[in-house]
Amino acid sequence: MSLTNFPGGGPSPAGTPITKVTMPALAEMKRQGKLISALTAYDYATSRLVDEAGIDLILVGDSLAMVVLGHDNTLAVTVDEMLHHTRAVRRAVRRALVVADMPFGSYHGAVAEGVANAVRFVKEAGAEAVKIEGPRVELVRALTDAQIPVIGHLGLTPQSVHRMGGYRVQARTAEAGARLRADAHELAEAGASVLVLEGVPREVAARITAELSIPTIGIGAGPDCDGQILVFHDLVNMTFAPPAKFVRRYADAAALIRSAVEHYREDVEHRAFPSDEESYHLPAPARKVLGADPNDTDAVVNQDALQDFGA
Ligand code: KIV
Repeated sequence: MSLTNFPGGGPSPAGTPITKVTMPALAEMKRQGKLISALTAYDYATSRLVDEAGIDLILVGDSLAMVVLGHDNTLAVTVDEMLHHTRAVRRAVRRALVVADMPFGSYHGAVAEGVANAVRFVKEAGAEAVKIEGPRVELVRALTDAQIPVIGHLGLTPQSVHRMGGYRVQARTAEAGARLRADAHELAEAGASVLVLEGVPREVAARITAELSIPTIGIGAGPDCDGQILVFHDLVNMTFAPPAKFVRRYADAAALIRSAVEHYREDVEHRAFPSDEESYHLPAPARKVLGADPNDTDAVVNQDALQDFGA
C-alpha cells in the first residue's frame, strides 16, 4: 500500500501555493461576479480529487444517505454518520470550504439542541460551516451568534419529502414564489452566509439572486444563481437511477469501474494477474534451495528490498 502524507498548508501537489476558500471569500466572489463551483463529497479519495480540481465549496451532503449508504431518502442518516464522513473529507481538503449538512432531526427541536449539534460538526469534524434546510430563522440567528457560519437551503428541501409528497419543483405559483423570496430575505437578515436554492423555477432563483447580497448556489434552479452545486454521484453516473432534468453527467464512472473490475476478474480467472513482475521473489541462495534459477531475479530481489510495501 502506498501511504500519502498530507499535512495542512503548503503548496498543492502541483507545487502552486493554495489560497484557502473562506466564507468571506465566497461573499467577495459574489461582489466581483465570479461564479462559485460547489460539489458534494463524502470520503477522502473523492474529496481530494474534487479539491485538487479547484471546486470552491465541498458539501458533505446528507444525500450520502442515498448515494453512499443506499437509503431511499435522506431521512435515516444520523449525526454520528455525518460526523464520520465529514472527518474523512476534512482530512482530504486543503483549499475548498468544507460544509457539513445537518441531518434530519438534528435541528428540528429546540434551537439549543440544533446549536449543540452544529458545534459538534465544527469541533469534532472540522467543518467550516453547516447547512440547514427550511426557513429556520431563529436557528440561523443562534448559529450566527455562536460564530458558526450557516448555509440556508430553500425550495425543494429533501428532508421535507413526506410533507412535499415527493421530490417536486417548488415555488411554481406567484404566491409560493413570493413566500420563498420572503424566506430567503429573512434567512439572509438572520445571518445566513450563503443560500442553496434547490428545485425552483429559474425566474424565481434569478430574482432572489439579484435581491440578496449573500451568494445563492443553485441545484435545479437555473443558471442565474451565484454558483452551482451537484451531487458528485450524479456528475459521474454512480447513482443507478435515471438523472433528474438538471443533472449533467460529465463522466461515466459506473462504466469505467465495471469494465476495470470485469477485466481484473477475467485476469484472475485466467492466471493473467499477477505477473512475475508483480510478484516478490526469494533472494538467490534461497531460490537455489528450492531448485529455482538463482541468476535471473537479482535485480528484482534488490528492487523488492527497496520497494516492499511501498517504503
Ligand atoms: O445533501 C445534498 O447533497 C444537498 C445538496 C445537493 C444541496 O443538500
